[in-house]
Amino acid sequence: MRLLGTLNKFGKLLNYSLARNFPKRSMACSRFEYVKSFEQDDSILPNVWIVIRIDGKKFHKFSKTHDFEKPNDENALNVMNAAATAVMQEFRDIVLAYGQSDEYSFVFRKETVAFKRRSAKLLTYVTSLFSSSYVMQWAKWMNLPLAYAPCFDGRVVLYPSEQNLKDYLSWRQADVHVNNLYNTAFWKLVLEKGLTNQQAEAKLRGTFSADKNELLFQEFGINYNNLPAMYRKGTILLRKRVILGEKSRQAVVPLHEDLISSQFWKEHTEILGKYVPGTYNAPQTLPRLVEMQLNGKELDDEAEEPQNLAGTS
Ligand code: GTP
Ligand code: MG
Repeated sequence: MRLLGTLNKFGKLLNYSLARNFPKRSMACSRFEYVKSFEQDDSILPNVWIVIRIDGKKFHKFSKTHDFEKPNDENALNVMNAAATAVMQEFRDIVLAYGQSDEYSFVFRKETVAFKRRSAKLLTYVTSLFSSSYVMQWAKWMNLPLAYAPCFDGRVVLYPSEQNLKDYLSWRQADVHVNNLYNTAFWKLVLEKGLTNQQAEAKLRGTFSADKNELLFQEFGINYNNLPAMYRKGTILLRKRVILGEKSRQAVVPLHEDLISSQFWKEHTEILGKYVPGTYNAPQTLPRLVEMQLNGKELDDEAEEPQNLAGTS
């Protein structure tokens, strides 16, 4: 005990002496300081839309290991949606997120000064928060444990005009349509008609959308347009005001609309215009994703403005 007391005293003395003899300023000016100048300025030019797209690494294997339903696993897609919601809640300058399969795109408002528009900061924060949120959300949606840690790559793409941004999102949504129609037909042939993967592939080779629609209708009695919109259109996340009786509160809400149409942009003017979240046209039962955000939170009527996250190093 006595020895411990002596050591403690000695430690305090040493700390005091270090603090006196090596003030912070002299540490910063060490002869090693010059290495800082090797860091590159990666600030994104002003006045452009910043889009960050993340994509799951080897999700063909991840989905197999975790027994995802084919071609779409509703719960697995909702893990993606919930992780993206967490990202939007943290970064309030993200005005829209769009997800499908194992990818999500996050659109920062043009004027954002979050992290001084430093590209690597934005990219790594979004990608790492998405990944950790994916893991946190997993057990809330899936009924088997994670077999290993999933990871996601990320990229930053800049779009200078509204049309470029709309075309980018349209490109991702068109991708869902093409892939989902093909995958739906493919897995019906394999799982219900007993074709091998190769046989199904051969049957669909060279077919157009209309042929696949016809095949689904004739052979399986499926009207493709009646399949869940989340599978056909992907998920658009927007910040909206959810009306709950007399009160309202902001939440990130999932929509499965056609964003290729001009109607979408007329309806959700806050994306390109002044950022004031619109009202949510809630379905009769609130999606679980929205309920989870509202649960346990006080309702308020105050509009929340997007944050400026500038200044943090
Ligand atoms: P990299 O991104 O290059 O690492 O390859 P990847 O295997 O992740 O492929 P990619 O990103 O091109 O495609 C995503 C893959 O995830 C799909 O091909 C499917 O295998 C799988 N996947 C995504 N969502 C679902 C789903 O809901 N159900 C099933 N069964 N598989 C899915
Ligand atoms: Mg992937």
